[in-house]
Amino acid sequence: MSSDRLIIFDTTLRDGEQSPGASMTKDEKVRIAKSLERMKVDVIEAGFPIASPGDFDAVQAVARAVKDSTVCGLARALDRDIDRAGEALQDAVAARIHTFIATSPIHMKMKLRMQPDQVLEQAVKAVRRACKYTDNVEFSPEDAGRSELDFLCRVLEAVIDAGATTVNIPDTVGYNLPHQFGDLIEALIERVPNSDKAVFSVHCHNDLGLAVANSLSAVLNGARQVECTINGLGERAGNASLEEVVMTVRTRRDVFPCETRLDTTQIVPTSRLVSGITGFAVQPNKAIVGANAFAHESGIHQDGVLKSRETYEIMRAQDVGWAANRIVLGKHSGRNALRSHLEALGISFDSEEALNEAFSRFKDLADKKHEIYDEDLQALVTEANLDAVNEQFKLVSLKVCSETGETPNADITLNINGEEHQASAPGGGPVDAAFKAIETIVASGTELQLYSVNNITSGTDAQGEVTVRLEKAGHIVNGQGADTDIVIASVRAYVNALNKIIQPKDREHPQRGDV
Ligand code: KIV
Ligand code: ZN
Repeated sequence: MSSDRLIIFDTTLRDGEQSPGASMTKDEKVRIAKSLERMKVDVIEAGFPIASPGDFDAVQAVARAVKDSTVCGLARALDRDIDRAGEALQDAVAARIHTFIATSPIHMKMKLRMQPDQVLEQAVKAVRRACKYTDNVEFSPEDAGRSELDFLCRVLEAVIDAGATTVNIPDTVGYNLPHQFGDLIEALIERVPNSDKAVFSVHCHNDLGLAVANSLSAVLNGARQVECTINGLGERAGNASLEEVVMTVRTRRDVFPCETRLDTTQIVPTSRLVSGITGFAVQPNKAIVGANAFAHESGIHQDGVLKSRETYEIMRAQDVGWAANRIVLGKHSGRNALRSHLEALGISFDSEEALNEAFSRFKDLADKKHEIYDEDLQALVTEANLDAVNEQFKLVSLKVCSETGETPNADITLNINGEEHQASAPGGGPVDAAFKAIETIVASGTELQLYSVNNITSGTDAQGEVTVRLEKAGHIVNGQGADTDIVIASVRAYVNALNKIIQPKDREHPQRGDV
């Protein structure tokens, strides 16, 4: 079924969320899904509904909110998983169930403890069951990149016969090399007798930094769906990055025999949204979406670009959404202007009260920072949502003293379950002192694994967006905070991480062995 359309399947909300610390709330998932829909992503994998009631609700909410992209739910090749996915996707305008089982010798023997024929039988049964809910069914032989070719061909032929309309070939552990993976796709399409009845898809992990190269090699060899994530988020070293795949196919039209339907100007805003929500900062030199991706440092380069952009640029910054920051609102903007701007960003409110709360935050921000950009509004809503997370700890007040020649000191008041607690602590700097003061009260037993600050827009009055990653007994969470004062943003991020780390961790992992 080779065509000149390349289907983009985004799994930021599923595989992306499997990155340690990247878990997202239902509202955050809906906001990202709306941004992916605006970008015209073909398929949005919204989650793994059987994982927990929260995951089910998030997939259901995305299925209800998205109209122009297909919404997909992941299910192991088990009746209960497939039924739960079918239920979560019930209200979607277009739904897909993605079911999978491992086919590599090592996974079948060590993880599943199943014989190959049992695996094949279970795969077929799963696809048939998924077909009861939708005629859009995808099957993945997990760890296909290390599976035996003959067995893979048998499994794919059988699942296509059973009704799978997409067969996805994952390089689950990121082991393949581009030429090998391309040859694999070519061989499968050639050898599976009914390969013309399904779209061949690929899903590559980045353990050796080859996920994008492997995906593109597969496209050159007949794959017509690529599974990818914004900013390359994903399990371990991540998945193929959507922006790199899409912009390579577009920029090298001379080489690729297919096109996507994506609105690439939505790439940078979506990248920033995902980074802000997950707290996974984008490295400055990251292709397409890194802050330096279109910046020219050397005089020779700058001179060349000024004379003719093509001397050193193969893409236009504005084509991927690096438009100059647009001022959208200001101090005098009213409630309706705020509401309609937020709606344009896919953010709506369940109640007048929630809008009023956002409006009051907006007014506070506009007092400190006169020009408000889309990115500020996204951060403002993220902040409001953070506060709504089952909060046990709340920041009441913070005073920091930082003076040349003196040891910085922080005085903090936290509200813990309705009771106020105060502490004071010195530190190496104001942020360090503030975190120490929090720990004097909370004694959380957590370890700080990451602290990062990014400016949301430019200028010294920009909001700083802070990520704090805490770890306790293997449980990792990312907390976020944003404010024009970066010490306050840092404390908010720390408090948010504390509120998250006390939540029970009760989700199933899709690729666990006990099928
Ligand atoms: O990496 C993988 O194999 C997966 C499957 C569930 C498709 O994520
Ligand atoms: Zn994966």
